[in-house]
Amino acid sequence: MVSSVFVAALLASAAVASPLSERDGPVRSTAFTKKINLGNLKGFVARDRARAVHLATRHKQGTVQARQSINVTNEAVSYLAAIGVGSPATTYNLIIDTGSSNTWVGAETKYVKTSTSTSTGKRVSVSYGSGSFSGTEYTDRVTISSSLVIPSQSIGVASSATGFDGTDGILGIGPVALTAGTVSGVSTVPTVTDNLYSQGTISRSQVSVSFQPTTQQEVTNGELTFGTTDASKYTGSITYTSVTTTSPASAYWGINQQVTYNSASILNSAGIVDTGTTLIYLATDAFKKYKSATGATADSATGLLKVTSAQYSALKPLNFVIGGTTFALSANAQIWPRSLNTYIGGTSSSIYLIVADLGSNSGEGLDFINGQTFLERFYSVYDTTGKRVGLANTPYTNATTN
Ligand SMILES: *[C@@H]1O[C@H](CO)[C@@H](O)[C@H](O)[C@H]1NC(C)=O
Ligand SMILES: *[C@@H]1O[C@H](CO)[C@@H](O)[C@H](O)[C@H]1NC(C)=O
Repeated sequence: MVSSVFVAALLASAAVASPLSERDGPVRSTAFTKKINLGNLKGFVARDRARAVHLATRHKQGTVQARQSINVTNEAVSYLAAIGVGSPATTYNLIIDTGSSNTWVGAETKYVKTSTSTSTGKRVSVSYGSGSFSGTEYTDRVTISSSLVIPSQSIGVASSATGFDGTDGILGIGPVALTAGTVSGVSTVPTVTDNLYSQGTISRSQVSVSFQPTTQQEVTNGELTFGTTDASKYTGSITYTSVTTTSPASAYWGINQQVTYNSASILNSAGIVDTGTTLIYLATDAFKKYKSATGATADSATGLLKVTSAQYSALKPLNFVIGGTTFALSANAQIWPRSLNTYIGGTSSSIYLIVADLGSNSGEGLDFINGQTFLERFYSVYDTTGKRVGLANTPYTNATTN
């Protein structure tokens, strides 16, 4: 029986000790790095939106072309985990993605076969809207941390990949059903979370994510915890809400959520929580309400909304009511980090908002995406066993980093 407390010191380079340590049980967490690719930031809004549109429409017939017409730019803001594959392991920097479920390597660092590598001979291909890969499915030993090892994980090995410069692939921790149709002749491909659970390494099929806002180009400030949660990463209690039954949000880590601004409801619908999307996307009708309530104007240089300093001073919290709890996104959390303005084609003195237009009106069954700019303020839990999503405040909820 595995202990229910799995948390330990995570940031290898940080001098801060976690309140719980190895004496409490094996380490079930792994630190990861946020990387802001300054050279790729221009155009990242188009890329991020392409992914958002793809997530919102991939289950609909006839809308697939939309994503193919958008040029791919490479990953600009990513949360990367250093994952070992093979024995001896080669380390790959993989994007932490709750919005897809295939784990694959080989985009940049080429796959190194060892005695643990076995080709299944089957073809794998996945499209992300902002990129795609195809190649061959292997099974191999995957090492997330010293105590999170999967001896035989099905992984994709890319023979071609677009949109993934600066990364080696994806650690897909979405629901397993998203892998349907990705590997020839295979119904679904168990995720790393599924395998850690089925092999008995964790006692609950669950993964928790801690992000923090930052303006540094590269910083190890994220944490992924399997099977449990890390109490040092959130404050108060975790609010759990059932995965929504509304399709297509129900295929992802989908939730029901009401969004209010200045006491007015601007959206009450189903959508998703997604670590692989950078901005917060709202359905067009809700986005327009937010735009008019804040007085923001569209900025063509960045593709984001822009506010004056007076409008910024007057900005109210953007409230996300989830499972009966209000998660308040502060004014500072609603803006793009100003020190990075020029990298996205903006001017250093301007103030840009991180709430963007999903591109279709609400009522589509996936009417919002709570991306990294949301998750940097709230701890999140993806619980397959309980079919629920958990959220909590963090010490960074009200940080003024931006
Ligand atoms: C896409 O990229 C190609 C090749 O660089 C370029 O010719 C084309 O104009 C681009 N299209 C758009 C819509 O940006
Ligand atoms: C954030 O600040 C607001 C306004 O001061 C306060 O009401 C709220 O409780 C704070 N939230 C957290 C999680 O500290």
